[in-house]
Amino acid sequence: MRVLVTGGAGYIGSVVAARLLAEGHEVIVVDDLSTGHADAVPRGATFHQMSIAGLDPVLGDWAVDAVLHFAAKSLVGESVTDPSLYWRNNVVGTVALLESMRAHGVPRIVFSSSAATYGQSEQQPIREDAPPRPGSPYGATKLAIDLALTDYAHAYGLAATSLRYFNVAGALMDPGGQSFGERHAVETHLVPNALRAAAGDGPALSLFGTDYPTPDGTCIRDYIHVVDLADAHLLALRAGAEGEHQVVNLGSGSGSSVREVLSTAGEVTGREVPVIEAARRSGDPAVLVASNEYAQSLLGWRPAQDLTAMVSDAWRFEQEVRGQA
Ligand code: UFG
Repeated sequence: MRVLVTGGAGYIGSVVAARLLAEGHEVIVVDDLSTGHADAVPRGATFHQMSIAGLDPVLGDWAVDAVLHFAAKSLVGESVTDPSLYWRNNVVGTVALLESMRAHGVPRIVFSSSAATYGQSEQQPIREDAPPRPGSPYGATKLAIDLALTDYAHAYGLAATSLRYFNVAGALMDPGGQSFGERHAVETHLVPNALRAAAGDGPALSLFGTDYPTPDGTCIRDYIHVVDLADAHLLALRAGAEGEHQVVNLGSGSGSSVREVLSTAGEVTGREVPVIEAARRSGDPAVLVASNEYAQSLLGWRPAQDLTAMVSDAWRFEQEVRGQA
């Protein structure tokens, strides 16, 4: 297939683009580099630095079979202080992309949705039929796009899949000499922050909240390896059916607390992660764990790698790639 990857210079988009190339697909990456890195685009992909809102004049010529849509603003805190950025970039930008796809007859899309669409759910593990109650503008924009995809699929025959990611971690360490991992200028995620704290390459890890109603008082999340996540995209590309929109959770089905992640980071690095116990971070749900039953039945997908593998790969990436930057 010839596949357009929007946001292919970012963390997850670059890993998926690399896996698509390895599977023999032709890949065109579009990224405005507002948060991505040009050198994260895998060798072998064609790269265009541009916004998803500007695709209309070129999409017809590219004759792609599918779009994998990662390009988005994705900082929960920033979305609260600057929702306009999120509604314009994520929602208005995606509607422009869908219109371009419609005008040029691109038949399928796989979209990066998020567990943030659920908010704090009473259902654990969370199935796809749990009521969406996003706790931030970021989550609301992902939900709005999911709703638009349902309408576009039904009315215009689009084959659409929304993959709702839970907590993604790890890296793709490529023997071909190019590695792909988390390189956010503003890093908010637990695993890279814990590893940088352990390496002495960042401040002590602020542990946000120790008084949650969980066994050790810290938040529980469902972590999945970015390579497992990428494999689900490859399966979703083939599984989409014309006129249908599928919403699929991607998680392991079990959770780890922040303290458990910190202890794994300590074991992997051989160094204790320096921690400062801090107040709760606003908007963090206590527990977010996915049911992956639907991903198993629809896509035949189940994650293969555990938390230790994720933290180990993220650590290698920190040392080998980011450490030299
Ligand atoms: N945490 C810390 N210290 C840090 C970073 C995180 O204690 O420096 C804690 C958080 O409070 C949370 C857990 O570690 O309890 C995981 O936090 P992350 O920021 O790594 O991930 P989130 O669970 O907040 O984010 C995930 C997805 C987002 C999505 C969000 C919805 O990555 O895309 O869930 O809640 F929006």
